Parts: sequence; structure tokens; C-alpha cells
Amino acid sequence: IKVKDAFFVKSASSLEETTPEGISEVAFIGRSNVGKSSIINAFTNKKGLAKSSSTPGKTRLINFFNVLFTQEDKTFNVQFVDLPGFGYARVSRSMKEEWQRNLTRYIEKRVSIRVFVHLIDSRHPFLESDHDVHAYLEKLIRPDQKILRIFTKSDKLKQSDVSVIKKHYPDALLVSSSNKKGIDKALHAIFEMLFG
Ligand code: GTP
Ligand code: MG
Repeated sequence: IKVKDAFFVKSASSLEETTPEGISEVAFIGRSNVGKSSIINAFTNKKGLAKSSSTPGKTRLINFFNVLFTQEDKTFNVQFVDLPGFGYARVSRSMKEEWQRNLTRYIEKRVSIRVFVHLIDSRHPFLESDHDVHAYLEKLIRPDQKILRIFTKSDKLKQSDVSVIKKHYPDALLVSSSNKKGIDKALHAIFEMLFG
């Protein structure tokens, strides 16, 4: 499979502003700064498609991207959804609470979501907050939804760190959006969950 094309569709601040239900969605979830926007760019091979930044709290809206996959002579249309991060955001508490509320409503009410990609910083693979997010997703998913864990920023790891992760998660997908290692494999895993 290949990504043939990808383009920005719209930004929404709440569930009411989202695109109509229909096209299968892949929602990228994880802590602020884990690399959600960057991995969307790596998957689609488009550098500035999703806006990334070294400052946590960059993505503040629910951003929809249309992605066209091709496999042999078939085309598959999917939406990738870049979300604000869980946790840190240098804004007022009330604003932060409103984002989190909108984010939670999208995650819990959006019918079109087929895959939740839970991104975890591979340098901190066992954080309680990620454990909580995973448990939360497991509890809410419907039978037609799946969760895929992906460990980001693998270029920062030593081989011994990789071994620790592999010991706990033998099938762990370790990915670097910087050097593109693991990107193809992770993209195939998402595609399999959607259409396999
Ligand atoms: P928020 O939108 O704030 O929630 O962050 P995000 O999860 O979208 O993270 P983003 O993609 O903006 O990346 C955050 C920072 O990590 C940026 O400085 C990226 O360049 C960097 N980054 C992302 N992926 C990688 C990676 O694979 N390796 C390395 N070394 N840095 C990365
Ligand atoms: Mg982002």
C-alpha cells in the first residue's frame, strides 16, 4: 500500500463543527508533544500538512485530513484526525478544560472512528497517564473499533531501551518521524486494521 494523496479538510473546535460522519477515521491520540502531528506528516510524506512544534500544546483544534491509499489498482479513502494533546497546555484552566471536554466528546461520540492510534513517547514508555489513556480507550471502544499503540521518537533510543520496550510489548511498533524508521510498517498496521 501507498499513500497517493493527502490534504487538509477542516479544523473543528467541537463535535458540532466536524465533517459529516461517513469516511472511516483514524484518530491520533497522545500526550502533548509526543509527535501526533509529525507522524501524520511522515505517513503522508507531506512535511507541513499537520502543524508541528517543539512547544507542547501546538495542536488546539480537531484537524481532519483526507488520505487516499492505493493498493494495486484500488483506492481507499480515509480521514486522519490530528487531535490536541492530553495534559500540558499553557493556557488558562478554563480554556484547557473546554478543549479536553471537546476532545473527549469527539473521542466518545464520533461514529466514524475506526482506529485509535495511541502514541507513546518511547523514551517514557510506562507513564501512568498513558496507561490511563489506554484503559480509558479499551473501556469505550465499540466492536468495530481498534486501538493501535505506536512508540514515537525511536531515533532517541539506545538499543537497551528498545529491548526493555520489546520485553513488555513484544509486537511494539517503534517509529521515528525524523528518520522514517518503522513508518511503513506502522502504516501497514493501520491499513490492516481498517481494511484487513
Ligand atoms: P501537540 O500538538 O502539542 O499535542 O504535539 P504533537 O503530539 O502534535 O507533537 P509534534 O508532532 O508537534 O512534535 C513535537 C516535537 O517533537 C517537535 O519538535 C517534533 O519535531 C518532535 N518530534 C516529533 N516526532 C519526532 C521523532 O520521531 N523524533 C524526534 N527526534 N523528534 C520528533
Ligand atoms: Mg500536534
